[in-house]
Amino acid sequence: MASMIVTLCASGVAHADDAATRGAGIVDEWCRMCHQRVTDKPDRDMAPPFEHVVRRVGRDEAYFVRFMQEDHFPMTTFRLFDHEKADVVAYLMALQRQGATRP
Ligand code: HEC
Repeated sequence: MASMIVTLCASGVAHADDAATRGAGIVDEWCRMCHQRVTDKPDRDMAPPFEHVVRRVGRDEAYFVRFMQEDHFPMTTFRLFDHEKADVVAYLMALQRQGATRP
């Protein structure tokens, strides 16, 4: 099996599965011009870190799946292929499972 390639520490998401790891890469490519990293100095002109977004009430997997299918001007989510959207959702769920923000 050539598919047994484990990506270690590629994303900073501890123990992320492959989909979540790919999702982290997609977020870095398409979303970071607006969404802050949780380690950034808070800036009200920027969109919130995903670590904060996943802690909002009602943000479950179904919510994010639906969110990613809709257009959100000026967000770039519409540029993603469906399999990339699924990876982003996996990344968000991994963040949520981690309990999000580190001190
Ligand atoms: C042009 C700027 C911009 C880009 C690029 C962008 N976003 Fe956003 N995003 C925003 C703004 C502004 C908000 C609303 C802020 C808020 O909900 O507090 C937001 C909110 C969100 C939310 C929270 C939705 C909710 O209802 O809680 C998610 C999830 C999200 N963005 C995902 C993404 C993803 C994934 C990408 C990359 C594919 C992305 N965004 C790229 C500006 C952007």
